[in-house]
Amino acid sequence: MSKSKVIAILNKKGGVGKTTTALAMTDILQEQGKKVLLIDLDSQCNATSTMQATTTNKNTFSLLLKTVDVAETIQHTPNGDIIPASEQLSKADLTITEVGKEYRLKEALESLKDTYDYIIIDTPPSFGILIVNALTAAEEVIITAKAEIYSADGLINLYKYIELTKKYCNQRSELTVFC
Ligand SMILES: Nc1ncnc2c1ncn2[C@@H]1O[C@H](COP(=O)(O)OP(=O)(O)OP(=O)(O)O)[C@@H](O)[C@H]1O
Ligand SMILES: [Mg+2]
Repeated sequence: MSKSKVIAILNKKGGVGKTTTALAMTDILQEQGKKVLLIDLDSQCNATSTMQATTTNKNTFSLLLKTVDVAETIQHTPNGDIIPASEQLSKADLTITEVGKEYRLKEALESLKDTYDYIIIDTPPSFGILIVNALTAAEEVIITAKAEIYSADGLINLYKYIELTKKYCNQRSELTVFC
């Protein structure tokens, strides 16, 4: 099987369709017969609850803390495979501070690259260690945005942030913007 493509869905703004896009892409790709893993990095756990995954202590927060193996975190729900989120992700920036912290998700996903065609990452509406981990792991970044002035203003900062992450952590990623 081919190596999986990792796609991060991103925008610092809230309520612009990140989770909706991540869920829709997961659904559509599965309909097409692809093997998909959804990763929920948002402490709001919206993708986790919509996929009807259960809240356990084996989630993306424990994965980033390295207290659990990635294979143990995957839940096989009737809607597809997901690594669920945890409310504890809201304290990730204070907790995950060691050197190399930006690479934890990328490292964790390496062992899954022959198992899934697509790995889709839903991210929180904030800048920080979670977004940096998503951008470092991703080959492709999709920005969801509303066609309005404040949203457009926010995109400038977002581009700068992505460019910095590309420079220091991931020079391979490609960027697509969906409005
Ligand atoms: N393309 C769209 N057109 C109309 N409504 C949409 C669209 N995409 C999402 N929505 C609606 O907008 C709301 C917010 O969407 P969603 O939760 O996906 O945003 P989000 O960016 O993940 O938010 P957050 O940053 O809080 O996680 C939802 O009620 C969703 O149904
Ligand atoms: Mg969301």
